[in-house]
Amino acid sequence: MDSEILAFRNVGYSYPQGLRLSERFPSLRREAVAGLTISVRAGECVALVGGNGSGKSTLLKLANGLLVPDHGEVLWNGDPIDRSRRGLARLRAEMGLLFQDPDDQLFAQSLVQDAAFGPLNQGATANEARERALDALERVGLLEFADLPPHVLSHGMRKRAALAGVLASHPRVLLLDEPTAGLDPSSEERFLRTLEEFRGNGGTVVLSTHDLRLARRVSDAAVVLRSGALAACGNAEDVLSDVAMLGRCGLAGMRTEHAMPKDPGGDAHSPARLLVLTGEGKGKTSSGAGMLLRAVGHGQTAVLARFVKARPSAEVEVLDRLGVRVVGGGKGFLPRDERSSAFQRHAQAASEAWVAAESVLASVQAPALVVLDEICYALAKGVLAEDAVRKALSVRRPGVSVVCTGRGAPDWLRTLADTVSEVGCVKHGYADGIPATRGVEL
Ligand SMILES: Nc1ncnc2c1ncn2[C@@H]1O[C@H](COP(=O)(O)OP(=O)(O)O)[C@@H](O)[C@H]1O
Ligand SMILES: [Mg+2]
Repeated sequence: MDSEILAFRNVGYSYPQGLRLSERFPSLRREAVAGLTISVRAGECVALVGGNGSGKSTLLKLANGLLVPDHGEVLWNGDPIDRSRRGLARLRAEMGLLFQDPDDQLFAQSLVQDAAFGPLNQGATANEARERALDALERVGLLEFADLPPHVLSHGMRKRAALAGVLASHPRVLLLDEPTAGLDPSSEERFLRTLEEFRGNGGTVVLSTHDLRLARRVSDAAVVLRSGALAACGNAEDVLSDVAMLGRCGLAGMRTEHAMPKDPGGDAHSPARLLVLTGEGKGKTSSGAGMLLRAVGHGQTAVLARFVKARPSAEVEVLDRLGVRVVGGGKGFLPRDERSSAFQRHAQAASEAWVAAESVLASVQAPALVVLDEICYALAKGVLAEDAVRKALSVRRPGVSVVCTGRGAPDWLRTLADTVSEVGCVKHGYADGIPATRGVEL
């Protein structure tokens, strides 16, 4: 382990779509990643950890030149990336990127043709390319399936086939985007053996993962991302034992991959419940918070989308620290006067919360619990596009349960739900002089 092979110097990048959305909804993040300064030394294994949307995939695509930074520089062997066609082709042969989804990577009619594509591009003869492809397929344990089309294989096998495609180019650096997500324990062990062999031959690895156990096991250094920025980086043992920091980055209580369903989209048998907590009584948000903490405790992904700013906000801070992902700010309950600027602001905040919630519902990794706090209230006030909400809540993703809270749940939502809890009038603590705004003391 010696010289710096790959480096980021103050790199920032925004997706064009992200920019457009943030113009409409100023509270959304503009930049997918910002201010990244990272150094990878030849021969080391760097774990890239962070919650969903923290910027891991973006960072890896910037590393191999697939994305061009808006500012800052990516250095390869000490020099800025040569972005000419030949330069990029050479870079990608030396630095292979394994995509998060193997179906983004596999394209040929058979595994061997797929894996031979890289060597052919590098100028190998058809025979040499085939030999290298078969060798790579053997290394990932798929030699006997070489002539099969990728789509007949299981997800785990397609992931290994995609890895073979990367290995066949004989890269010096492997960029692996969540390589073990969705693999069963034996496939994961096989993957780890392939990784060890690659490293044994002097290879460098940058691997993104949610799985802290895996990161601890394989990495020398660790980079932690939160909302596109660097939360920590350095020696893996130090970084990955900083539980408080990891908690703030939404990584506390993260499940290990062994407990994960085989299909990253969710386990087809796991339930997807829709629960509504409505009524005039107190405690709906707190009940939702309790459910989220139990979900974290069970290693599920837990997300709180806020349509109204909750008071006391300390509760949200606690949830955030304990590993619940919080999206959507919410401004406050809507004033009576619909023409007032306060009403407009609050309504805008609620509809921004819906944009964030909709994307979470469509993409959150199962098993997960998503609490849409005060969405019933926002619906009852007519500040959300009811059709869009109804459509999104009608789709049940395996392993993703949803809780909607707030008074005034509409009839269609009650019909859609598995359970509707009507919370009756309960006297609140502050009626006895306990100041609600003090909230939870930490
Ligand atoms: N193709 C895209 N278009 C617009 N925004 C994107 C795209 N891909 C990712 N993003 C946004 O960039 C941020 C970082 O995403 P990503 O790098 O995919 O994170 P991770 O891999 O850690 O889950 C997120 O806010 C995500 O919504
Ligand atoms: Mg990703």
